[in-house]
Amino acid sequence: MHDETGEVIGLTQLQLHPRRPGWGYQRDTVVVEAHRGRALGLAMKAEMLRWLTPLDLDLVYTGTNADNVHMIAVNHALGFTTVRSLVEVDRTAAGLLQALGGVDAEQRQAEHEHP
Ligand SMILES: CC(C)(COP(=O)(O)OP(=O)(O)OC[C@H]1O[C@@H](n2cnc3c(N)ncnc32)[C@H](O)[C@@H]1OP(=O)(O)O)[C@@H](O)C(=O)NCCC(=O)NCCS
Repeated sequence: MHDETGEVIGLTQLQLHPRRPGWGYQRDTVVVEAHRGRALGLAMKAEMLRWLTPLDLDLVYTGTNADNVHMIAVNHALGFTTVRSLVEVDRTAAGLLQALGGVDAEQRQAEHEHP
């Protein structure tokens, strides 16, 4: 929260799942563009981790895009280490149907809309 304006200028979120009680998942962290460059991302993320101390977690998981140098720098400053990288791919459903052989995607779509 920005003291002068009362506006929210950044956030970080942390999820706890009953299925894995020993783990915390620190998801999105964002600082409004006009306020970047003052290590607010690091400060918010660190403060959230301090809040976790009473929970006695075994592990905190976080992640970001492989090209997000700013967030990676924040994570490494906090001592997180990179354990894996993911490659995500996508394709339209129509393209997949065509690639899967002989299925006329447009026809399937028309049948779906007008059975
Ligand atoms: C990641 C993020 C929170 C870091 O913001 P921050 O805490 O202000 O970053 P820092 O204070 O460490 O800034 C480091 C430098 O990078 C610059 N910078 C930070 N984020 C930048 C961005 N998205 N684009 C361009 N420059 C950026 C800062 O101006 C600063 O430059 P300087 O060293 O010349 O002063 C911020 O970039 C952001 O909100 N990005 C969009 C959301 C996002 O990608 N979140 C991560 C997904 S989990």
